[in-house]
Order: sequence, then structure tokens, then C-alpha cells
Amino acid sequence: MGITFDEATQTFHLHSAGMSYFMQLHRGRHLLHRSFGPALRADHLSRPAIFVARSFAVFPDADDPGFSRDTVAQEYPVPGTSDFGASALDVTWADGSFALSLEYESHAIRAGKPELPGLPASYVESDAEAQTLEIALRDPVGQLRVILRYSVFAAFPVVARSVTVWNDSAVAVDLRKVLSASLALPDARYELLQLSGAWGRERHLQRTTLRVGTQTVESMRGASSHQQNPAIALARPETTEDAGEAIGLMLVYSGNFVAGAQVDQYGSTRVYAGIHPETFTWHLAAGARFDAPEALIAWSGEGLGGLSDTYHRLLRTRVARGSYRDKRRPVLVNNWEATYFRFNEDAIIDLAQAAASLGIELFVLDDGWFGHRNDDRSSLGDWTVDATKLPSGLPALGQRLQRAGMSFGLWFEPEMVSPDSDLYRAHPEWCLQINGRKSSLGRHQLILDLSRSDVRQYIVEALARILESAPICYVKWDMNRNMTEVGSMLLPPERQRETPHRYMLGLYEVWEHLIARFPDILFEACAGGGGRFDAGVLHYMPQVWTSDNTDAIARLSIQFGTSLFYPASAQAAHVSAAPNHQVGRVTPFATRARVAMMGMLGYELDLRALTSDERDGVAKQIALYGEIEDLVRTGRLYRLEHPDAGGRAAWMFVA
Ligand code: DGJ
Repeated sequence: MGITFDEATQTFHLHSAGMSYFMQLHRGRHLLHRSFGPALRADHLSRPAIFVARSFAVFPDADDPGFSRDTVAQEYPVPGTSDFGASALDVTWADGSFALSLEYESHAIRAGKPELPGLPASYVESDAEAQTLEIALRDPVGQLRVILRYSVFAAFPVVARSVTVWNDSAVAVDLRKVLSASLALPDARYELLQLSGAWGRERHLQRTTLRVGTQTVESMRGASSHQQNPAIALARPETTEDAGEAIGLMLVYSGNFVAGAQVDQYGSTRVYAGIHPETFTWHLAAGARFDAPEALIAWSGEGLGGLSDTYHRLLRTRVARGSYRDKRRPVLVNNWEATYFRFNEDAIIDLAQAAASLGIELFVLDDGWFGHRNDDRSSLGDWTVDATKLPSGLPALGQRLQRAGMSFGLWFEPEMVSPDSDLYRAHPEWCLQINGRKSSLGRHQLILDLSRSDVRQYIVEALARILESAPICYVKWDMNRNMTEVGSMLLPPERQRETPHRYMLGLYEVWEHLIARFPDILFEACAGGGGRFDAGVLHYMPQVWTSDNTDAIARLSIQFGTSLFYPASAQAAHVSAAPNHQVGRVTPFATRARVAMMGMLGYELDLRALTSDERDGVAKQIALYGEIEDLVRTGRLYRLEHPDAGGRAAWMFVA
């Protein structure tokens, strides 16, 4: 592993774990991308890039007639000065113009990997694990300084990239787009792999041939979404699970994003990812900085399986944090599909006792325990126990669960507020909203404005009060609607388009506070199932509720798709009732258990209603899972047969 700069050829070489990434300076000014792929010798690029003056190309430097950004691979492409492809950066200057020209200024190579302020990112535990290169580029007219950051790891064939933009001028500028990474590939003989779907049908693998023009996946929903996922791969048509070249590009971010591949007139490909520019503008004051989220670019010469293994190890060990990163996860029972909103204390204890006798360790009390929430029309924001359902209160319930042999987990949906809530009646201004425009409802709820510090403080304190009051060791953090009428009452007009990203920064700040204050709690993320399943979330919460669709057969495609990028340690998977509540299908109990054992196992059905054969079966499943949990969580996954290929699915974890 290492990063070198060769003065003679003006070449940067980043190499690690069988992978090489080359950039080169042209005339000490222009930063070109030269190659990315298998490990090569540092002197591989002994010759400069070849420039051909092609028709209709435009040439920015009169003294350099061959150089046009139109025909030479750019490391971080910008618009308006001879490049016509998808730009990585887009700025509106104070005079309204928008051309950019980034020129090399300096670089530095250091051991380790710096943190990204306020943003989730991969990390190292010692400086020996990684090296980081920072290249400073500058627009000489507008005095914008762009820092391109690259880290390579000894243990992973991955380049972690991030971008910081500094406004060194005396006037504010509007950043219209700041992508996290753009990668130039010399040909287009690739297929694009994406994880797409819908609620209950998340992350189905799609593989399509690249063509001239642009193919993108994106979310403008205020979350990474059920529909698309902020991770894409390019693979050769002949690439299989076990052999062939594959390149991954993953954003460590949970909000609006775009990721795409653009094939140009010469059959070259530009792959890119970052915050979605359509719902974004950042008003960058004089002297201020803006940090774009991290992108993780991975290379595999061992097929899709190799690519997955790299991301799995990286996300599990150097993106996820906290005491549960390396710890066995408890087998849980969740009461949602057993009771929905209709439960009381005795029912909860009965369920818990039934679960404990089978070897289940954790009882998760889902939606409906607070305010007067008997359906989804009220009470979000009022995080006080509903004494009609739970008259003894949460501390006593926790103790009763402990006496029944179970630890206690609790559901929250802290980002939301119901119009029918004390919180909304007291603070209507705390919602995302636009003056003079009616706010749309989704699942009868509104979204709190997490760009506001008073809202963030309320959420942290409301949750902390409960988490400190009862023996709670697990939190399910749910989120059940997407953003509309996005605006903040506190931001001036020129900053309103910052709201979606400020919301994400606020959410990350809240999570950071909570995981620091409650380091022993296992946090599980959820967004109506898998509506926010991304690497950003995994930095705070090591597992995510994979989908609200708990049907074992439907889950095969969801879990296989998810596994292209995300490890089994991140995929919460439950055994539920038959007929299944979402699709009505009847499957054998054993099938449901086997499929759920591909992830972090839980049960979500009325265990009181099991036959004695079924009870024996569950006890055996839990005993078996006890033996293999460590292997599933940390082993290497081999996808032997993909469920979408021929109607059968087979997979294997290897220690
Ligand atoms: C959506 C989640 O995905 C479900 O598991 C459940 O927690 C419901 N919300 C509760 O409202």
C-alpha cells in the first residue's frame, strides 16, 4: 500500500491490495486521470498522455494547442472551459457566470486518514492502515480552492475519495453541484449494475449494457430511498460471480444522491456519484468551506463476489463503529406483525415469555407504545408512554421482561411529527415547510426540520430521557415518509436549497450524540423497511431492517441484491407468519428460517400461537443460528445461485 508522486513523469500512483490508480499532471497545471485497475508498477506510465486535436474540440490554452478537456480524461471535470461532459462541480459566481477552470496548486501525502467533519466516512484505527493524498486545485479567476482527497488502505482494494471546496475570494458563490467523485474509464464495454425497486421490493439487482449517453440512478426523496441505492458497479459483460473485472462506486451518504455513467463520442466512460444537484445549492460565504460526502471506489479482478467481499469487509470493519461492530447480535422478537398497534402489557409479557422459552434473547416493542397511538394518525413526537396500554410504565416493563429472561428494545420514529400531537401544537414551526404553501402529508405525518439545533436538541433529550429511564439495550430508528415542501423557517432565501443536506448533517449530528451517550445500545436503522439502506447509516447503526416485505421468497431477491454491496452483518432478517402479511404466500417454517439466517436473525410473528412442532423447530433454529451467527456475520459470502436467474437460490458463508 502506498501513494507516490514521480517528479519526472508528474505521476501520482495510489496502490493497495492489488489495485492501482494513476493521475498525471499536464504542464504542471491540469490534473488528468490516467488509469484505474489491477496493480501496476509505478513506472507503468512512463509516457505522457497523447493529445489529438480533434474536430470541434476547443482549446483553453493558446500555448498548448493539443490540450482540450473534451478529449483528455479529466480527474475532476468542470464545465465551461472545453469539457462538455457531466461535470463534477458547478458554480454560479457572484456575477452570474458559471465557467470553471481548475488548475493544480499543490499536493501533500500523509499517513492515516483524516475525518470528514460532520459526515460519515470510512476510518482507520492506526495511521499504518492507510495513506492519504490531498491535491489542491484552484480556479484562478474565482479563487475557489478545491481539495481532492484520496485514501488507500492496506487491507482493501479501495480508494476513498472526498472533496472540500474553499471560497478564498471576498464574495459569496453558489455551489450548484459538488460531486464526491468522477472516474474516467477509457472504454465503455461495461454493464451497469444497480439496486433498484420499491417499498417491499428493495434493491433488486439490475444489469444493463452501457450505451452512448447517460444512465443514472438517483434519489430526490430526502433519503437514499427504496427505489434506488447510492452504490453502483460496472462489470465487463463476461464478468461472473467469481471471475472478471468489476468496479464499484458507493456513496457514504443517506440523502439525495445521483450516481451515473456517461459514455461519450469516443466510447469513453465517466462514472460519478454525489449529492443530487437538483435539490441542492450551497451558498458559500467568503472564507467558508463545503465538504462533499465520501465515495468508496473499489476494484475487483475476481468478479462480483470479489467486489462484494471488499465492500462487506470495509463496511463491517471500517465504516461501522461501536460495541456491536464486532459483537454477536442478539436473536430478537419484534411484536409488530404479531400485534400491530393492538397490545397491552400482559400481551407483551406473554409474547416475551413464549419467546424466552425458545431461546430468543431480546424483545423489541415496536410502534404504538407512546402518546395515544392506536393507529398511524397520531402522537409522533410525543415520546411519553401510553399509560392505557402500559400502565406500569417502561421501567417496570423492562424489569418484567428481564425477569422473563429477555432484554428490552424499543421503536422510535424521531424525525417525524404527527399533526395530532402535543409537539406539533406547541411547535408547528419545527417542521420542514415553505411559507404560504400547504404541507403534504405522508402516512399522516410531517417531518421535523433537523437543520434546526432546537429540534435536534429536543430529539436527543426526548430519547435520552426514555433510554435512561428503563433498561433498554436496543433501539429501532424508523423513518416513514419522504420529503416534500422542503424548506426551513430559519434559513434565509439564498440558503433554502441547502435544507436537504443540512437535514442530513443534522441527522448525523443527532446520531453521533446518541451513540456516544449510549455506547452499549444496539441501534437498528429502518425506513419503512429498507428505504435508507446505505453506507452513511452504517457508520452509526451496524444493522438495518432490510425490508418490510418479510416473505421468504420475496426476501431472496432483496437480500441477494442488497448483498452486492452490503454485508450480512447489516441485514436484519425476520421469520414471520404464514400466510405472509405482505404477499399472502405460504412457505414452510424451515424455509423462512433459512432465508432469515442469511442475515441478523429475528422473529416477527405471534409465538404464542405456534404448534408444539413449530416450537421445537424454532428452538432448533435458534440453537443452529447460535452456532453459525459468527460465520454469517463475519464470513465471506458466496452467492452460488441467484434467485432471479433460475428460480433457485443457494449461498454459502466461508470462515
Ligand atoms: C415501518 C417499519 O418498517 C415496520 O417494521 C414497523 O416498525 C412500522 N413502520 C411501524 O409503524
